[in-house]
Amino acid sequence: MQLALCTWQEVEAYLKRSTGIIIPIGSTEQHGPNGLIGTDAICAEVFAREVGKQADAMVAPTISVGMAQHHLAFPGSMTLRPSTLIAVIRDMVASLSRHGFTRFFFLNGHGGNVATTTAAFSEIYAETSLQAGLSNGTPVRCMLKNWWEAPSARRLSQSLFPGVEGSHATPSEVSVTYHAYPEAVKAVAAMAPEVAPSGSFTDAADYRRRFADGRIGSNPALASAAHGKTIVEAVTPELATAYRDFVAS
Ligand code: NI
Repeated sequence: MQLALCTWQEVEAYLKRSTGIIIPIGSTEQHGPNGLIGTDAICAEVFAREVGKQADAMVAPTISVGMAQHHLAFPGSMTLRPSTLIAVIRDMVASLSRHGFTRFFFLNGHGGNVATTTAAFSEIYAETSLQAGLSNGTPVRCMLKNWWEAPSARRLSQSLFPGVEGSHATPSEVSVTYHAYPEAVKAVAAMAPEVAPSGSFTDAADYRRRFADGRIGSNPALASAAHGKTIVEAVTPELATAYRDFVAS
């Protein structure tokens, strides 16, 4: 059930049976030589919609630009500053909680969002904690779920892409986007080097100096739409269980 495709009356009816909502959160940033700029937002959205169907849950519009300052040396990449992303998350949660939503399940597609999203949750909780005497029983709870950390996602990446999953522009995430958008599959002759270097980084210039084609530790040449279908079908039930448990908490 997608919020954007509902009427307000349908949302009102939904709130009578559930106060949970899934918010997909991703990023718009380079994903190496054959990965789509929208990879992280697309993955979050694909899993959110599938979980929404399986768990009969409302799905909010995707936060498709995330905290990706380190990718800005590659054309097409966009970022929100951490402070901007925190403000976006706070306002979205405040808007929806006004109507009665109380369980906010952020389905995340981008590692760079983790610290900022967690900080946004602390800001949200601080707001009620600081209102002495008013904080009792505040029902709002937020949860961050990174799809690629689901045990089924890890198992599949190990069996489909042993040793070359890496941490950015991974064959798993590229496969999920190819499954979702087969018309956007990119043909790349060969990756050079086949497996990208690994390591840490600071700002955008430092990132580009260390990771020339944008990948970190991965070989996304192994990505395919078929693998993406396998990953989506295996991981969705696990995420749906996590959502249901969270809403019941
Ligand atoms: Ni990614």
